[in-house]
Amino acid sequence: MILRRQEKAMSTPHGSPRNEQEHVPETLPNQSWGEDPSVDPAVNEHLRSLVGATQRLWKALKISPRTCIPGNVRHSKRVALFSLRIARDLKLSEELSQRIYRAAYLHDVGKIALSPTILRKTGRFTAEERRAMQVHSLIGHQLLGAFLPTEDLAEIALSHHERYDGDGYPNGLQGGRIPLAARVLAIADSLDAVLSRHTGRNTIAFAAAWREITQQAGRQFDPCIVDAVTRPGMVARLGRLGCA
Ligand SMILES: [Fe+2]
Repeated sequence: MILRRQEKAMSTPHGSPRNEQEHVPETLPNQSWGEDPSVDPAVNEHLRSLVGATQRLWKALKISPRTCIPGNVRHSKRVALFSLRIARDLKLSEELSQRIYRAAYLHDVGKIALSPTILRKTGRFTAEERRAMQVHSLIGHQLLGAFLPTEDLAEIALSHHERYDGDGYPNGLQGGRIPLAARVLAIADSLDAVLSRHTGRNTIAFAAAWREITQQAGRQFDPCIVDAVTRPGMVARLGRLGCA
């Protein structure tokens, strides 16, 4: 439902016209969809071990990892790569960029608490199912916050479905009240969701997906971040604009 909602929102043109040429990232992330090679191998190893632990926990809860986990892991890896790319376009510190990368890798870990029925559902959610799905950001916050290695990711996971216009969840935070890392992650998460509707993951699909993202700038997404992804001049002014 979350993705459906994003898709629905992004399917309607909003906002001022934008120069698409300016806003399309020039290069695609690693096509193998593995971990980013520029990230410390120890960080990637740690993330893999956390995912492995989650899979074992998932299995212990008798939720089939074959049906639930692989898609989530692939999605999480792609979102991590997109997040890191955006963080670097924003010229955020390496520490924060890698924190965003780690958070993106684990952002949906709270879905471990959801029923397989909801996780596997492809049709429209009922209101009750939607409420159940939305709990995953709270569960993720609790899970990540419970362990020292991931406690710095808890707030990001909590806020990754907040919207810039305040219409997100779980707290309806607005604008700069949403942690910067979560604003970055929200864009990366939606970018992958939109890409999943396109056949193939080539440059054309990526450009089309990015157009949909830009249409939600100022509504679902922080417009300063959307702009900064391909406009280096804007990046330097982020702090002064109150976006950092
Ligand atoms: Fe999520």
